[in-house]
Amino acid sequence: MIGRKTIIMVAVIIIFFAVPVVFWAQTRSEPRDDPWSKVEKKPSKTNHSNLFEATEFKDGPAVTKACLKCHPGSAKEIMQTSHWT
Ligand code: HEC
Repeated sequence: MIGRKTIIMVAVIIIFFAVPVVFWAQTRSEPRDDPWSKVEKKPSKTNHSNLFEATEFKDGPAVTKACLKCHPGSAKEIMQTSHWT
C-alpha cells in the first residue's frame, strides 16, 4: 500500500521540478534580443548580382562551383580559417 508520506514526498518532488520549468517557460516567452541589430551593416564592395551566367542552381554545391570559377583559391583558404575546424 502507498502510504500518505509517500504521496506527500512525490508531490514535493513534482513541485520541486515543476517550479523551475514554469519559471523557464515564462522567461522564454519574452521577445528575444536580436543580435544582428548590434552588427555593423557593411555594404558589399562587389555587386555580384550580374556576375553569374546561370540564374538558377540545382543545389548548394552548384552555387559553390559557380563561386569557385572566379575565386579558385577560396576552397583552400576557408579550410585554413577557424570556420573549418
Ligand atoms: C564572375 C566572377 C565572380 C563570381 C562567379 C563570384 N565572384 Fe565574388 N568577387 C568577384 C570579384 C571580381 C570580386 C572583387 C575582387 C576581390 O575582392 O577580390 C569579388 C569579391 C568577393 C568577395 C569580397 C567581398 C566584396 O564584396 O568585395 C566575396 C566575399 C565574394 N566575392 C564571394 C563570392 C561568393 C560567395 C560567390 C558565389 C556565390 C562569388 N563571390 C562568385 C568575382 C566573382
